[in-house]
Amino acid sequence: MRVAIVGGSGYVGGELLRLLAMHSGLSVSVVTSESNHGRPIHAVHYNLKGYYPGLRFVRYSLDTVSKEADAVFLALPHGSSLHKVPELLEVGLKVVDLSADYRLKNPELYRVWYGYEHPYPDLLQRAVYGMPELHRDELRGADLIASPGCNATASILALAPLIKEGLIETDGIIIDVKAGSSEAGSKPAPHDHHPEREGSIRPYAGEGHRHVAEVEQELSALAGSRVRASLTPHAVPSVRGALASAYSRGVGDVGERDVLRAFARMYGREPFVRIVRNTPLKYPSTKYVIGSNFADVSFAVEGSIVKAFAAIDNLMKGAAGQALQAFNVAAGFDEADGLRAPPLRPA
Ligand SMILES: NC(=O)c1ccc[n+]([C@@H]2O[C@H](COP(=O)([O-])OP(=O)(O)OC[C@H]3O[C@@H](n4cnc5c(N)ncnc54)[C@H](OP(=O)(O)O)[C@@H]3O)[C@@H](O)[C@H]2O)c1
Repeated sequence: MRVAIVGGSGYVGGELLRLLAMHSGLSVSVVTSESNHGRPIHAVHYNLKGYYPGLRFVRYSLDTVSKEADAVFLALPHGSSLHKVPELLEVGLKVVDLSADYRLKNPELYRVWYGYEHPYPDLLQRAVYGMPELHRDELRGADLIASPGCNATASILALAPLIKEGLIETDGIIIDVKAGSSEAGSKPAPHDHHPEREGSIRPYAGEGHRHVAEVEQELSALAGSRVRASLTPHAVPSVRGALASAYSRGVGDVGERDVLRAFARMYGREPFVRIVRNTPLKYPSTKYVIGSNFADVSFAVEGSIVKAFAAIDNLMKGAAGQALQAFNVAAGFDEADGLRAPPLRPA
């Protein structure tokens, strides 16, 4: 199957190229970049020298993509996929969108969180939220996948077993995410430039991080009732990695065994979620997932408070890896195809 990567010069586009170089059934036929068209892939992604001989960035055109690809990964900034998705579906391509443009089911929420009226509410219903742990059955055969946000992925995976089994109170969950600088993409704003982040840890988006919308959407669907969460991301001075720590009150006498059972029932057979219990630490660390598609999860029960943790590589399980995992399910490939590389150590 031939694949186009639109927005291929960015960090997520680069990770998709790295993963697809290891896939048994997908080959990259088109890579677009408006600012690098005509240049070879390794002119931007130096790590990929030798992997895509002869392939060069081209400008996006529907005609080129529809003639030369069967499926498209859109790795564009928010808002830039909005009008491309319907035209790509119209010509029969399978589409994976890594932006937030098709993640929310309720079109009203786009006005609240993103400040615009969503022009294609029907497509929001057609899109499948690309988290296989929650939507594997819906993903099979899907032609539009909305790939989750990175902070949302860590938050949802940490909390899902607790919500699914009704073990915590669902009104007022507190989530704290620490995230590396690559979350901000390859064109940094002044405060995201690495010299400004190095040696510092600071919160941002304290009053309404947009990923709350998808966290509440997905957890509410699992709970069968309205879940309310407050999420504060923190910029930390690493390049990759996102760690979510989530807190809520337990329901009744919930104890460590109840929580462990809930995690084991939900994730025991998941190919890319590992429950961390003293291996080598008691709680997950971004250090041991970097470069891989794993989410490492764990928990703690302290009196009436239940805490849940998840560590991911934001560019892998938080973006390109999860997008490929979801696409593998949708297109009928082995779910782990292209994703078997273990984490780096040391990272
Ligand atoms: N970074 C992460 O950890 C992460 C995690 C999950 C999801 N995402 C999402 O994935 C998408 C890509 O993120 P990224 O980190 O790869 O960003 P990035 O490094 O800034 O790359 C964005 C890509 O889009 C192109 N582009 C920029 N502005 C554009 C515009 N106005 N119209 C069309 N193309 C434009 C850029 O190249 P040219 O200008 O050369 O075309 C580049 O190839 C974003 O929606 C992001 O929110 C990122």
